Amino acid sequence: MRDSPPQTIYLKDYTPPAWLVEDVHLTFRLAAKTTRVISRIRFAPNPDRVDQTFFLHGEDLVLISSHIDGVAVTPTITEEGLSCDVPDGPFTWEAEVEISPATNTALEGLYMSSGMYCTQCEAEGFRKITYYPDRPDVMAPFTVRIESDLPVMLSNGNPVAEGEGWAEWHDPWKKPSYLFALVAGDLVNHPDRFTTMSGRDVELNIWVRPGDLHKCAFGMEALKKSMKWDEDVYGREYDLDIFNIVAVDDFNMGAMENKGLNIFNSSAVLASPETSTDANFERIEAIIAHEYFHNWTGNRITCRDWFQLCLKEGLTVYRDSQFTSDMRSAPVKRISDVIDLRARQFPEDQGPLSHPVRPERFQEINNFYTATVYEKGAEVIGMLKRLVGDEAYAKALDLYFERHDGDAATIEDWLRVFEDATGRDLTQFKRWYSQSGTPRLKVTEDWAAADDASRPPSRDLADNPEAPDQVRGGGTPSGTYTLTFEQHTPEGSGQTEKEPQVLPIAVGLLGPNGDEVLATTLLEMTQAKQSFEFTGLSARPIPSILREFSAPVVLERETSADKRAFLLAHDTDPFNRWEAGRQLARDGLIAMIRNGSPADDRWLEGMSRVVRDDTADPAFRALMLSLPAESELAQALHEQGTTPDPDAIWQARETVAQQLAETLQDALPRLQAEMTVEGAYSPDAGPAGRRALAGKLLGLTTRLDGGAQAARQYTHADNMTLQLTALACLIRSGRGEDALAAFYNRWKDDRLVIDKWFMLQIAEADPARAADVAKTLTEHPDFDLKNPNRFRATMGALAMNHAGFHRADGDGYALLADWLIRLDALNPQTTARMCSVFQAWRRYDADRQALMRQNLERIAAKSDLSRDTAEMVGRILG
Ligand code: ARG
Ligand code: ZN
Repeated sequence: MRDSPPQTIYLKDYTPPAWLVEDVHLTFRLAAKTTRVISRIRFAPNPDRVDQTFFLHGEDLVLISSHIDGVAVTPTITEEGLSCDVPDGPFTWEAEVEISPATNTALEGLYMSSGMYCTQCEAEGFRKITYYPDRPDVMAPFTVRIESDLPVMLSNGNPVAEGEGWAEWHDPWKKPSYLFALVAGDLVNHPDRFTTMSGRDVELNIWVRPGDLHKCAFGMEALKKSMKWDEDVYGREYDLDIFNIVAVDDFNMGAMENKGLNIFNSSAVLASPETSTDANFERIEAIIAHEYFHNWTGNRITCRDWFQLCLKEGLTVYRDSQFTSDMRSAPVKRISDVIDLRARQFPEDQGPLSHPVRPERFQEINNFYTATVYEKGAEVIGMLKRLVGDEAYAKALDLYFERHDGDAATIEDWLRVFEDATGRDLTQFKRWYSQSGTPRLKVTEDWAAADDASRPPSRDLADNPEAPDQVRGGGTPSGTYTLTFEQHTPEGSGQTEKEPQVLPIAVGLLGPNGDEVLATTLLEMTQAKQSFEFTGLSARPIPSILREFSAPVVLERETSADKRAFLLAHDTDPFNRWEAGRQLARDGLIAMIRNGSPADDRWLEGMSRVVRDDTADPAFRALMLSLPAESELAQALHEQGTTPDPDAIWQARETVAQQLAETLQDALPRLQAEMTVEGAYSPDAGPAGRRALAGKLLGLTTRLDGGAQAARQYTHADNMTLQLTALACLIRSGRGEDALAAFYNRWKDDRLVIDKWFMLQIAEADPARAADVAKTLTEHPDFDLKNPNRFRATMGALAMNHAGFHRADGDGYALLADWLIRLDALNPQTTARMCSVFQAWRRYDADRQALMRQNLERIAAKSDLSRDTAEMVGRILG
């Protein structure tokens, strides 16, 4: 642990590296506690340098020897690295260091997982392997020799030679150290091949522990689909003779795009129908695509510095969402992404952890692998594409790959490509990268009937110094409909004054009979307040605003439940149809929580219609039936000036769900029968969507039959989706005990399934018991603090049980804080990440706030607290 106070690093302080690396040779003599790493690195002065300092990062390394041009040197070593006198011109640096993979519980650098050696170097893990300029703008080709008695030894690039007890790899593509990877272990492979569009024959492998070979087929198909898709849609081809994926049990994140050797959390690649749910399959397909797509957006073109993280992550998330939309249902993907954005990114951007898509400062970069950088970063790309159009987007991307291949680039480079390809000025658009916070977009409407058209402008328009921006249509005689928008971004992350941002607002208009009178049209809002006129209308239209969720904003609109119900029935945009139902549900729940109003009939009626609508995709209907999350309701109440009461929120959702079940009672058996999937299991969107809807219906049925049908489904389920849905219903209806015991016995040797067992019983527990269930599970022999998946399955599930976590006695907070304190000493990254469950602490009542603060302060007071956790807790406490 470090003694010096944490340093804040600023984007504005960037300077180019003084020394560049020509090439790197590494030799690894693997031994669990005494691995030797021998490096030979050729350095040359950077012509663009502003100073001459020679500094190599290095942490937790024991330096055995070091030489410059063959002469022994004695560098000055600190806890962050070393410096040394060096020649003026090019020279060769050689060093030997010792590291201990077996005791590396932080899972950063070289570590061991289930007996295998593996690495995780992004963002700054390479400095725990050897001394190196560990920054993404230093790129070099690597040659790696691995020595061990393990049968499989892998690194980046292509294999060049091997012998008894050693293997050598060479990666011809220059890369930054964060993309370095090494794996060695007793592994088996699922092999395949892919021929690229120019005819390169590529060997593909998924490497796993011997018992997992039956879980590789789906991942391999996803990989081949991804390779094909990137050729077809982006014209991007793979560039080595081999592509390896390795599954690792202990991993802090989802997966990592190391050049030619992607390393995956086993939960993000291994799948079988018996052990994985439909949701697991879809997530795995997306993550494999994501990591593969990084080969161009991340590896061939990387980031100049870590402030530019969104350059690769926002773009790659955007690309993987396009891929999923193409492979599955585009509207369902869009709705799911917006649910996720509102659940994870909005709270971040509206609380103490708010930061711009491109942050300007950090203490620990690992704390910025956030929903804002990733998901809002992807939204920004989506807006850019919408504004310039599909063709210009394709042109700009071609230019990006052409101009920046081999570069460590910046957001400025990215935007300049779009400016050059389209002639557009993106100065204002750039605010999406620099301003934090979720813009709030208020909309008001105005209607002037035909015989009324000569009347003076309405109040809204008179307020606006600018004339209304655009006029559409033009038939005469006609009425004029005006939409006036006002945007405002609340202050946050130290930014007080926020400038108006460019908002692409997709709008359609419906006539009173439900027909669309204006198809989706893009309004481009650039000012703080701006009006748009629509002419040629014979009657006052009903607007459908922000179709496809065309900008990541909070839309504020005074409207009636009747209008929402109308859109729910008639909107042609699937996203806004779903949104109308969601808003109805949300408004109804909030009215119930605030004033005890009964459930909204219009919502219940709307749902009965939607659920029976057999022209609608079952997956879409399943999304329709889901209620807003408890945390979303808490945030909404808070915004409306009501302190959220977690128990009341939970109760209202229960009441509404019960009423929905009763309303649909008669239709349930028939609908469930219609959704039954016959034949062999397939994770494709079609059958998965039917199972998703069937699962929602089973949830409703369970409220009426006390779990009888769920018990039957549990017994007969032949895939994990059906089994887990049934188990969740049984737990919720209070009769999960036997099934949980049976489930454990059946699956006790499968870690990924046992993660589900941990998670489900906490997430689905009655809120009054959730913290106790979680506590009991931390005493279970299978609870393993060192395995991030198991830790998240336990503590993450507790946080997901909103009312359970926020139980008034504070036991939920205390339990989590206890375990975060213990985990911090072992794994700072996962600890820090999990601290974010406290981020919304200020929205609750004084008692809960005090309890949360007390636990946060208890974490902050821990001695030797990691830089990761210290930064997070500090920001959350504010
Ligand atoms: N680049 C990886 C991905 O998004 C994420 C790895 C981040 N790891 C970390 N320790 N911060 O695909
Ligand atoms: Zn990524």
